[in-house]
Amino acid sequence: MSTVLAIETSCDETAVAVVKNRQVCSSIINSQIPVHRQYGGVVPEVASRQHLESINQGIAEALKQAQLDWTAIDGIAATCAPGLVGALLVGITAAKTLALLHQKPFLGVHHLEGHIYANCLSEPSLEPPFLSLLVSGGHTSLIYVKDCGVYETLGETRDDAAGEAFDKVARLLKLGYPGGPIIDQLAQEGTQTFDLPEGKVSLPQGGYHRYDSSFSGLKTAVLRLVQQLERDSQPLPIKDVAASFQNTVARALTKRAIACALDYGLNTIAVGGGVAANSGLRSHLFSAASQHNLKVLFPPLKFCTDNAAMIGCAAADHLNRGHTSPLTLGVHSRLSVTEVMQLYQHQGSGVRDQMNKKI
Ligand code: KG4
Ligand code: ZN
Repeated sequence: MSTVLAIETSCDETAVAVVKNRQVCSSIINSQIPVHRQYGGVVPEVASRQHLESINQGIAEALKQAQLDWTAIDGIAATCAPGLVGALLVGITAAKTLALLHQKPFLGVHHLEGHIYANCLSEPSLEPPFLSLLVSGGHTSLIYVKDCGVYETLGETRDDAAGEAFDKVARLLKLGYPGGPIIDQLAQEGTQTFDLPEGKVSLPQGGYHRYDSSFSGLKTAVLRLVQQLERDSQPLPIKDVAASFQNTVARALTKRAIACALDYGLNTIAVGGGVAANSGLRSHLFSAASQHNLKVLFPPLKFCTDNAAMIGCAAADHLNRGHTSPLTLGVHSRLSVTEVMQLYQHQGSGVRDQMNKKI
């Protein structure tokens, strides 16, 4: 049983949480979206500075809301990969400093492992094996979750991530940033009027890849459709365009996740990442899964997009198994989730050993 203070600063949320195993004691999320919105996307340097400004307050607030002091904390965790290097550095440096100061183990956490664990916050009994559909701004992956830290990637996007496709389509529709929630809202008021291509990945031997996806062709198809509609000087049926795009993405993701779960004999699909908040994906996946007797889990909306509770949940599981990270651990802008165990050393290497090693 571990209580972890966790920090997440990989992109544009400064988040701090206290998690007792799979129970959230506090979760502070300070979103930078209003700051980045004026630039139409995340500006890395601005993100790092914003993290610096809000991190200390976030830590104090998380402890206060959890009604705990440092003696109750068993470990201090921070996202260390993948993400914006400058942004990650703010979180990991804060976590290492606190670990040294309070003589606690430090854990570096892989952001995508956090998104997988977000499901455990609402479903504490969830245990591997299961299939994870990770759909965020940077990733679209089908991951076979075999054990804590043991993952196999079965499917990926060949170009844009699902969230990236939502953001790019929103930009071309001049809807603002981030695009996912805005398109989702509009799509719920529109109907699927336009046929758009799903974006299949061809195999050299013929046929299509069952688990990989591709969204860049879909984005171009939306652009062509909008140009055509504008040429015909019709008022742009923006809600119907949004609904057609969203349904196509939801259908493509659902088809691949169901095929993968059935092929590998996995009866639970746990979805994670910002696009897990999408209403179209939720309804498509629930209805397809029920036809195949599969269980589908989505985290609560507040834990779909970036947060520190999911990082704390993953860290607590590692800490319970005696995994800690050396204080020499750095950040990685790119690191596959299959390489998570590189971040840890095993039992017997507590913070004292870590400090001695460093010295
Ligand atoms: O997981 P996340 O917060 O950050 C990354 O790790 O990337 O995901 C952010 C992404 C953005 O692309 C955003 O547009 C998308 O998730 N997103 C959504 C929705 N809410 C957030 N996409 C579709 N529908 C939503 N409701
Ligand atoms: Zn994320």
